[in-house]
Amino acid sequence: MELTGEQLKITEQHLKRYLPRSQQVYGYLVLRNRVRSDPVRVLVDRWPEFNVIVCKPQYEQKGDLFKDTLVFANDEAILEEIIRKSSVIDWTHVFCLGMNLRHMEIFKAVASEKDVSGIQLAVCHMMILEDVSNLPSIDSTGISLSSLDESHVGLVNQTWKFGKNNEAVRMIRNMLANFPSCCVLDEEGKPVSWILTYESCAMGMLYTLPEHRGKGYAKVLVSSMVKKLHAKGCPVYCFIEEENKVSYKLFRNLGFIEVPSYREAWFQFNDY
Ligand SMILES: CC(C)(COP(=O)(O)OP(=O)(O)OC[C@H]1O[C@@H](n2cnc3c(N)ncnc32)[C@H](O)[C@@H]1OP(=O)(O)O)[C@@H](O)C(=O)NCCC(=O)NCCS
Repeated sequence: MELTGEQLKITEQHLKRYLPRSQQVYGYLVLRNRVRSDPVRVLVDRWPEFNVIVCKPQYEQKGDLFKDTLVFANDEAILEEIIRKSSVIDWTHVFCLGMNLRHMEIFKAVASEKDVSGIQLAVCHMMILEDVSNLPSIDSTGISLSSLDESHVGLVNQTWKFGKNNEAVRMIRNMLANFPSCCVLDEEGKPVSWILTYESCAMGMLYTLPEHRGKGYAKVLVSSMVKKLHAKGCPVYCFIEEENKVSYKLFRNLGFIEVPSYREAWFQFNDY
């Protein structure tokens, strides 16, 4: 069934019970229940005692296929039955899926039965700042901070690892229009370093132009974004790819703690 209105708020509260495993879908509902952004359908196997939740972007245009389908599952057998038998997952289209790496094997097996190809996009540590008072004080004297807007979609797309294509544009535009972002401006008012918020409330797409690295900009941005998200009542967390040692250290030094042995994975099924 599809959740609406008050059901979404109740489900947000229920998901707290399963933190940190439910972090991504919980963060998604926190934003969804407070901010009007691009439409997404939230589906559960049953309610209010759900076992599986699927947050499914509505595919209205080609670029929407890049937006992530997010899944939380409390019962792997039910998850398997749903993705094999129901129409919740449309296996005929391209879709990007984000979920607990442990459950991804189920998706891969069902995809293979259906002769659908899948590629792994990323496997990430989940880093959480549970207590914002653990954030060290970061000196931002002389650094000009602002937010990004619609005019920066191209800049973010060109530099994001999974961007550089038309498909990412609609997703980035939605993020910039509806969720918090933060950037450092140079003397001419151009962004040289930035951070955004995904639909799941995770901070991400952190990037500093190569010629401006090592000046402390990323630290200032993360610190500023932590305060923004916390003030809005949002969970403060992010995903760091396993191989990105610089970012891992950066977030650790700012008080973020890795959720031990948990990995979030992103897969793309079918090809563009
Ligand atoms: C990761 C990135 C955003 C860091 O930006 P930055 O503005 O240079 O970072 P800062 O100057 O604030 O440095 C933060 C810390 O990382 C360290 N650091 C930065 N670049 C480093 C490098 N190449 N090697 C080792 N340490 C590095 C700094 O010394 C600093 O450490 P400290 O806390 O001990 O002082 C930047 O390298 C980047 O854009 N990388 C490509 C995109 C990316 O990986 N984004 C992160 C996705 S989660």
